[in-house]
Amino acid sequence: MTRSAPSITRRAVLSGIAGAGMAAVAGRSSSGEEAVTTGRRAVTRDITLVAQERRLALPALPGRDLPLLVYGDQPFRTIRAVKGDRIRARLENRLADHTSIHWHGVRVANGADGVPWLTQAPTRPGESYTYDFVPPDAGTFFFHPHCDEIGQIGRGLEGLLIVRNESEPYAVDHVLAVRDWRVDLQDGGFLPISTDQGAAKAGTFGTLRTVNGAERPDFPVPAGEYARIRIMALDPTRIMEIGIEGAEAAIIAIDGFAVGPLPLRSWRMGMAMRLDIAIRLNGKGDTAQLVDYFGAEPLALATFTAGGEGMTVGAFDPPALAAHGLAEPDLDRAETIPFTFSASSIAGAVPVPITLPDGRVFDPADGLCLSSRTFWAINRTSWPGAGAGGLPQPLATLTRGRSYVFELTNTTPHTHPIHLHGFGAKVLDATRLARPVHRADTILLTTKERIRIAFVADNPGDWMFHCHILEHQETGMMGIIRVT
Ligand code: C2O
Ligand code: CU
Repeated sequence: MTRSAPSITRRAVLSGIAGAGMAAVAGRSSSGEEAVTTGRRAVTRDITLVAQERRLALPALPGRDLPLLVYGDQPFRTIRAVKGDRIRARLENRLADHTSIHWHGVRVANGADGVPWLTQAPTRPGESYTYDFVPPDAGTFFFHPHCDEIGQIGRGLEGLLIVRNESEPYAVDHVLAVRDWRVDLQDGGFLPISTDQGAAKAGTFGTLRTVNGAERPDFPVPAGEYARIRIMALDPTRIMEIGIEGAEAAIIAIDGFAVGPLPLRSWRMGMAMRLDIAIRLNGKGDTAQLVDYFGAEPLALATFTAGGEGMTVGAFDPPALAAHGLAEPDLDRAETIPFTFSASSIAGAVPVPITLPDGRVFDPADGLCLSSRTFWAINRTSWPGAGAGGLPQPLATLTRGRSYVFELTNTTPHTHPIHLHGFGAKVLDATRLARPVHRADTILLTTKERIRIAFVADNPGDWMFHCHILEHQETGMMGIIRVT
C-alpha cells in the first residue's frame, strides 16, 4: 500500500486563496524586508497543532496500530506557506509529558525557537503555547519538539514546513519525508526506542524504513518535465547516502537554501538534513528510484513513474531556484572558533538536579530534556555542564553582526550531523568528504573529519548547537552559542 504526496501547486494555490479571504495582514519578515512584491497580500496562517497520541497504522504496516505521537491526526503534519506569510501556530499539549516546537532551519527570532528552559518554559500537559513568526527564507523545513526528543520524535512527533516563493520554477513538487520506525515487525508495537549500546555508538536503528510512512511509495511525475523532489532525512539516527537511479538529477537546494543546480551523484545525509533535487523522466512509463547506498546493499526508498504523453526534450538543464538572501560572512575579518566533538570524559555520569535562577528545579534525569546518561561532549563539555548552577555556560559568546568561522573537528569514529539553530552557515571546506561550498543548518561531520563553516552572527539570542542524532544530543553532545 502506498501513499503519494499530492502535488503542492494546486494545494498551495487553494490554501493561498482561502487564507487571503480569511485574514490579510501586512507581512513583514524578521529580516526587515517587505516580502510581498507583486500584489499578493501576505496572509496570517493560524494553525493549531494538537500534540497527542493517536493509535494508527502506518501505510507501511497495515493493520498494526501503533501508539504514534502526532500533531493533529496523522504523522507528518504539513504546513505550507508563501514567503512573507505570518505563521501563528498554537501548540496544544495533550501528551503525557512536557513538549515544545522547534522550527528547524527557520531563522526565527530567538523567542520563537522552541527550546525549553532556554527560550521558553516547557509547555506542560494541558497547556498551550503560540509561536508567531514570519519565515525569512523560502525552503524545505521541519518542526519537532526540543525536549525528550528521543521519546517524542521516536514515536513520530515531527511535522513539515514548506515555504514557497510566490512564484516557483517547478510546477511539480513532491515532499519525501524519509524515516524509519523502531517497531516489532512480528507483534507490532514499538521496540525500545533508545538503547545504551546505540546511544554510545552510531545510534539505535529502526526496523521499518519508510517514505511518508509508506514502504517504497511511487510518485507520479509528468514525462519530459522537471520535477522538484524535497528529500527530508527525518530518521532520529540513520545516515543515508542518497542517489537517483533511472533519471538525471541535480541538487537545487540544501537545507532549503538554493544552490546550483549541481549534478547529483550521491549525497550523504543525517537526521534533519534536507536536499531538494530536480529530476526529469523523459518517456511515458519510465521509472526512476530514490536509492540509499549507505548500507551493504543499495536500498530503493521510493520510485517515480512518468505519466502523460512524453515529448522530445533537450539537454538536462533544470531551472535554478531563487537565490537565498543570507548575509555573506567577511572571511578576512572573521574570528575562528574551534569546536571538538568527542566522547565524554565523564561517560556514564548521571547529571544532578540543578536549580534555575527563578528557583525552579530542573532534574535532567526525569526524562524531560535529556537522559540520565552521558556519552558525548563538545569542547570537553557535556550538556548539562557538570556542577553548573543552571543551564550550562555558552560554549562561545559572539558579537552581533560580526562574522565567525567555526572549525568543527570530530575525534570520534562516528558521524555526527551538527545543527546550529538560528543561522544558515556557509560550509567552506572539509577534510574528508568532498562537497561544494553551500549553505546549511545541519552539517554532516563524518568520522575524524574537520569542517569549516562561516556565518554572520546577525540573529541575537542563545542558540542550541548540537548533534542531531537524538541519542547523541541527549547524552551530552549539545551546547549553547550566545549572540549578544
Ligand atoms: Cu532540529 Cu535543536 O534541532
Ligand atoms: Cu552525533
